[in-house]
Amino acid sequence: TRLFISRDSTALSLGAEQVATAIAGYAASKGLDIEIVRNGSRGLFWLEPLIEVETAEGRVAYGPVQVEDVNALLDAGVLKGTEHPLYLGNIEELPFFKNQQRLTFARVGLTDPVSISDYIKYDGYRGLKNALALQPAEIVKQVSDSGLRGRGGAAFPTGIKWNTVLNAPSDQKYIVCNADEGDSGTFSDRMIMEGDPFVLIEGMTIAGLAVGATQGYIYLRVEYPHAEIALNQAIAAAYENGYLGENIQNSGKTFHLEVRRGAGAYICGEETSLLESLEGKRGLVRFKPPLPAIVGLFGKPTIVNNVISLASVPIILDKGGEYYRDFGTGRSRGSLPIQLAGNIKHSGLFEAAFGITLREILYDYGGGSATGRPIRAVQVGGPLGAYLHADQFDTPLDYEAFAAISAVLGHGGIVVHDESVNMADMARYAMEFCVEESCGKCTPCRIGSTRGVEVIDRIVDGVQKDKNTELLRDLCNTMTFGSLCAMGGMTPFPVLSALNHFPEDFGLETTKA
Ligand code: NAI
Ligand code: SF4
Repeated sequence: TRLFISRDSTALSLGAEQVATAIAGYAASKGLDIEIVRNGSRGLFWLEPLIEVETAEGRVAYGPVQVEDVNALLDAGVLKGTEHPLYLGNIEELPFFKNQQRLTFARVGLTDPVSISDYIKYDGYRGLKNALALQPAEIVKQVSDSGLRGRGGAAFPTGIKWNTVLNAPSDQKYIVCNADEGDSGTFSDRMIMEGDPFVLIEGMTIAGLAVGATQGYIYLRVEYPHAEIALNQAIAAAYENGYLGENIQNSGKTFHLEVRRGAGAYICGEETSLLESLEGKRGLVRFKPPLPAIVGLFGKPTIVNNVISLASVPIILDKGGEYYRDFGTGRSRGSLPIQLAGNIKHSGLFEAAFGITLREILYDYGGGSATGRPIRAVQVGGPLGAYLHADQFDTPLDYEAFAAISAVLGHGGIVVHDESVNMADMARYAMEFCVEESCGKCTPCRIGSTRGVEVIDRIVDGVQKDKNTELLRDLCNTMTFGSLCAMGGMTPFPVLSALNHFPEDFGLETTKA
């Protein structure tokens, strides 16, 4: 019997390792022939640790399973898929899973993440095979046709970025994957690196072929040790099987790939300080222009793309740009892996085509708040994203629709707060976060954030409220337009959205926007 238990960090933090050990122990004591496959998480975190048993009728799931449940579960005959209080049936039939459009996460949970034969069995390396038969410009065209935009947060068209690197003459170019997923409440990069590392490796290899780069680096945040293990195992297997290195699949093409560990600075997720860090220097933001696409790593043309952007490439090259473009709405094409966190009943990963509304995600799939109290505010797009209030929950997930309400989709993270939240505290926290994580290169961010904390404190303490509120707005304006990068430039999003939508938490009656 094959049994699946996730090796994903979330599952591990909830006890998956102990459950796997207990099941192995039970099997050994009873002489049962059980093969335990450590897969990626299906993304239904409230059901982890989840076990799935392979039966003649397909996979049957049970969860959440604690160590103390193991013996009783196995005694009850769950290896045959029998009913039990923890019985969930086929995970793929649960509404949270069934109503997703899993393009990028298609394989996560189905395979053993580090088995290259599993990867190939589930349609892996089909995109690369197609890419090997195309000219570089034709590969870039597929990506442009797909409408894919940078999933790290800035939503810049990936095809245009690749085209810039393709057309930059150079003896050496690089592909850099930004895996420094630093936004609070986001975990899709981690999940895919732990649950399907080959899809990222394949995407980077295709990027290398597309622009003529022979070396890739995955800049991985140090807080992701499990992703590092999975990536390195998968990279080794790709080399052994001729999918990385010299003469890939006898094509004469070369692509080398390695993982580089970051050192824990949020700002190193900003592409230019990431490049500084990768070059062995302190993570300070560089002036742009020149763009990394022209003068990037070690001064060479470089693609810097987020994990999800690169992991979306294999399916585009496999099924064609038009196929991918068919999902979504307006100028937001394809799908977004949405990460649901904070005070939400069903937390986890939900991949959906753009266009789904926040309300559908929060209530139909998220099940409302975990506490059962009304949802008061949600922060979309990480710590630099705006707070949205209930009247805005019908906004569709679409880059332009969010921009129209002074918000961002960012990397697709959603952190939910119920009515017990104090939004002045949240605004103060945003400024504090900027104090902590500022690289220090420019004044509006380095000094402005510290002054921001003080001004918010004065407003809340009732000191010259009107004057200080005006001062806070003025400061936010300076930070927005005077900062060198998104760190200082976007901190005003959470601050001003809190102030404008929730003035009562600042002790203000109304505030003018
Ligand atoms: P940006 O708008 O300056 O640039 C976007 C990307 O397009 C960059 O890679 C840039 O080099 C590239 N680009 C722009 N014009 C180009 C051209 N003509 N040719 C080729 N490439 C071109 O935005 P930035 O500062 O890189 O990113 C800010 C975003 O990062 C924010 O929207 C924020 O949501 C997101 N973010 C994500 C985090 C995460 O953990 N994923 C953390 C913090 C911020
Ligand atoms: Fe550094 Fe902040 Fe300026 Fe960005 S905005 S360059 S993080 S000081």
